[in-house]
Amino acid sequence: MVRRTSFPRMGPLIVACLTMVWYFSRQPCKISNEGYSVEPSKTHVLILTSWRSGSSFVGQLFNQNPHIFYLIEPMWHVWASMPHEAFGHLHMPVRDLLRSIFSCDMSNFKPYMKRYKYITDLFMWHDSRALCSQPACSAYNRSDIIDRRTCFQKCGKIPFKELEDTCKTYSHVVVKSVRLLDLEVLYPLLNDPLLNIKIIHLVRDPRGVLLSRENFEGLNRDDGTITRTQNKAVDVFKVMQEICAAQVRIYKTSIQDPPSFLKDRYVMVLYEDLVMDPVGHIKDWYSYVGLQMSPKLESFIYNITHGETPKDRRFLPLTGDSVKIAQHWRQQLNFSKVVRLQGICKQEMELFGYRMVMSKTEQENRSLDIVLPLRRNHN
Ligand SMILES: *[C@@H]1O[C@H](CO)[C@@H](O)[C@H](O)[C@H]1NC(C)=O
Ligand SMILES: *[C@@H]1O[C@H](CO)[C@@H](O)[C@H](O)[C@H]1NC(C)=O
Ligand SMILES: *[C@@H]1O[C@H](CO)[C@@H](O)[C@H](O)[C@H]1NC(C)=O
Ligand SMILES: *[C@@H]1O[C@H](CO)[C@@H](O)[C@H](O)[C@H]1NC(C)=O
Repeated sequence: MVRRTSFPRMGPLIVACLTMVWYFSRQPCKISNEGYSVEPSKTHVLILTSWRSGSSFVGQLFNQNPHIFYLIEPMWHVWASMPHEAFGHLHMPVRDLLRSIFSCDMSNFKPYMKRYKYITDLFMWHDSRALCSQPACSAYNRSDIIDRRTCFQKCGKIPFKELEDTCKTYSHVVVKSVRLLDLEVLYPLLNDPLLNIKIIHLVRDPRGVLLSRENFEGLNRDDGTITRTQNKAVDVFKVMQEICAAQVRIYKTSIQDPPSFLKDRYVMVLYEDLVMDPVGHIKDWYSYVGLQMSPKLESFIYNITHGETPKDRRFLPLTGDSVKIAQHWRQQLNFSKVVRLQGICKQEMELFGYRMVMSKTEQENRSLDIVLPLRRNHN
């Protein structure tokens, strides 16, 4: 969907148009049959989520599409360069960097990077298919399904500024971020007629998140930012409290008296629903953002979500049977932790319809569906 702003008269509209061209120098000013109008030249997708919530997986469903320029967690650089700031203070630079990326202007990375020379200086660059194929890297053609490890070996020594030229060749820019814990921060972007933003808010059962955190290292610095306890032992329950509260805040903002510019720009999905039908969800999302599914991509998505080989790391840091992964916490998470977490994240769990388990037996009983029917299929 293209948003279109039509101007009634020639004089003012030309001035307005030229002013906007000057201001957003990389955006086009098009002349259409109905008169002059300003249109966003791309579609911008934000996968808005939290740590260990299946977002690498969702990102990958978009990443392999040849029309998509995808960056995974680019705002990592903002947080990493200011480890002692509170996340709320970092929201503005995070948002501004996001705006630049959506406009294919990569110069805003500079203040947040120690080195700004090659594409390899970018966090998780080789998880981005667009940086592994033409025109960025000749190792792959654009429509190839790309193996991140081969990319790591063959691409990389590409000047950082080519990120911009590569970005400009794509119709869709997709960014995944766990560093926006509020929706209102994004209003200036959502309200901007030169951007065409589509948000996918991905929510996961906090008990699954907690288990995934226990099996994953490397969140200390982010946890320190969330709880403002840098370089001290982090209380994981405090982190979970902030994360759960953020999901509630974002979702409530979108449903309780939302501003008109949010219309058709926000969908929420539960990770547990997604894994039951990834191909169905990705088809819905593709139509939401104006893309088409190809048989090759559909086959790829089916394969990575039904992997029999959990150690296959060619496409994702972790793959395997995603339905089983979503339920691992039921066997592996200590019940007393489950009880404590259910208390801390009660509001989130009620809002999204996650069933509370009252005993170890209930926790382990797979006949009990963990997502209550109440909230199903409602995005
Ligand atoms: C890209 O496609 C062209 C034409 O199909 C082919 O000749 C070339 O070998 C391909 N390059 C790579 C890196 O696969
Ligand atoms: C998916 O897996 C099947 C069976 O292993 C394979 O034939 C097919 O090429 C795979 N699809 C993609 C897109 O990799
Ligand atoms: C579960 O957690 C409690 C409290 O954190 C601890 O005392 C107990 O030993 C744990 N049980 C297992 C099986 O790890
Ligand atoms: C598991 O849950 C189902 C559905 O509520 C119930 O019928 C069954 O008795 C439970 N099994 C155990 C072992 O508690």
